[in-house]
Amino acid sequence: MGIKTVRDIEVAGRRILVRVDLNVPLEDSRVTDDTRIQAVLPTIRYLAERGGRVVLCSHLGRPQGGVKETLRLRPVAERLRSLLGGNVGYVPQCVGPQAAEAVGQLPPGGVLLLENVRFHPEEEKNDAEFARALASLAEVFVNDAFGAAHRAHASTVGVTRYLPSVAGLLLERELEMLGKVLHNPRRPLVAIMGGAKLSDKMAVLGNLLDRVDLLLIGGGMAATFFLAQGLRVGRSLVEPDRVQYVAGVMEHARQRGVPLLLPTDVVAAEEFGRDARHQTVDVAAIPDGWYIMDIGPRTIAAFKEALADSGTVVWNGPMGVYEWPAFERGTRELAQTLAGLKNAETIVGGGSTAEVVQALGLAGRMTHVSTGGGASLEFLEGRALPGVAALKQHVAQE
Ligand code: 3PG
Repeated sequence: MGIKTVRDIEVAGRRILVRVDLNVPLEDSRVTDDTRIQAVLPTIRYLAERGGRVVLCSHLGRPQGGVKETLRLRPVAERLRSLLGGNVGYVPQCVGPQAAEAVGQLPPGGVLLLENVRFHPEEEKNDAEFARALASLAEVFVNDAFGAAHRAHASTVGVTRYLPSVAGLLLERELEMLGKVLHNPRRPLVAIMGGAKLSDKMAVLGNLLDRVDLLLIGGGMAATFFLAQGLRVGRSLVEPDRVQYVAGVMEHARQRGVPLLLPTDVVAAEEFGRDARHQTVDVAAIPDGWYIMDIGPRTIAAFKEALADSGTVVWNGPMGVYEWPAFERGTRELAQTLAGLKNAETIVGGGSTAEVVQALGLAGRMTHVSTGGGASLEFLEGRALPGVAALKQHVAQE
């Protein structure tokens, strides 16, 4: 992997600044999904059990560089406390005397959560002074925030200039599992791409096209493929300026001999609404003015069959408007199919795909569900993540 991890450092008695991604959904100051908190517990436990003084820092939401009461990390500290079953401190500052004092009082094995780093505009500017102030709280830095690794901020990149820096266990696993998709997948490698907008996924598609053995495409983005095939797609969202690109993708797949499966039937609705009148139609018979909302049963069956012999499956993007019960079937059945594959490694990209798998209670049956939305996309696009690059550079300098 080319970077050091928590296993390579002395822990006992040391003050360890750990960047985590605790950007979790909150409702009325209550955490509604603690997946990201759960995901960093192994690193926190690893360090605390070895007598480290664990100082956690994170962002929460996008407060635009100012204090926002609803984006304080206190509720997250409370959830962390109940999950760790122990004393987790919280201090409403992330730099300055109050933070330093709280860190100073931390016993070996103690855990403290600092306030939202994005309350300071310097964080997102990767300001050197702010990074130095954060770094001054500790003797070593651990980055376990895969979800924020695509951001070149003070708490992900800047601090590595001032402290010995290593990866946490979550970051290590994310890089290993997503890295496998790109570099040494068990074959056949199948990519399933979905989601509403093709343009969000184009770079991933481009990077995966030369690596996969099979490509399945569903979700809203399929509409632009239909357009490229000369089909009528009603009022579905399409990106006409991408038609040429899509035609190129199809041609490239054909030349490489990579099967590219598109939906052959879809669930179409008269309106774009939760309770809209809808019916299953052949893709060649989408009624004028209707919207594509989900893949149809014939497509689901074909996708299931295509997946049966996979060695690795990477999935990014829902198959339809899964938030509405009438249009969730394609996404749900695909998730269930992946969960049931016996001999395949199943890697689920973060963001809405991860949410679906969590909501269905199937996350534990996947090989890996990424905690990074934008970060997992950028990784699969083949781009270097600044947070990871900073750790690599650090090793090179040693
Ligand atoms: C995420 O939710 O994808 C990460 O926490 C990054 O958040 P950001 O997009 O606000 O940087």
